[in-house]
Amino acid sequence: MIAIGSDHAGFELKEAIRRHFEDEEIEYVDCGCYSPESVDYPMQAKKVCDEITEGRASLGILCCGTGVGISIAANKVKGIRAACCSDYFSAKYTRMHNDANVLCLGGRVLGAGLAIELVDVFLNTPFEGGRHQRRVDQITALEK
Ligand code: RB5
Repeated sequence: MIAIGSDHAGFELKEAIRRHFEDEEIEYVDCGCYSPESVDYPMQAKKVCDEITEGRASLGILCCGTGVGISIAANKVKGIRAACCSDYFSAKYTRMHNDANVLCLGGRVLGAGLAIELVDVFLNTPFEGGRHQRRVDQITALEK
């Protein structure tokens, strides 16, 4: 299960990703927002992060205007490793090396075509483990 969410500035991009999931029959939960009406991104980040930390979703996708604010908010939630990406290499390697569990995208930065490529590579790339596990464990230790 993939959790998706956005604020108003990421709404159109989140909708494009949601339609992609419908087309590809990828199971998702849409945590909103559900219209372009203004909504604060930290609350939207929390809804998607809760789906992951409470075990209902394995990965999440969050969209705001830049992807930055919503990633800062998501990274305050224990157990979340959120990566704001605008390029293919970062979206792939943040799964391989950081075991990122949330991808953050900017609706005012990216076109839907590139964003969906980033989503697909993020969802389909496994964590490499090994030496990277030690580093992820060190990140987790910073939460205490
Ligand atoms: C909303 O105007 C905008 O500030 C927000 O979507 C995001 O870009 C913040 O980082």
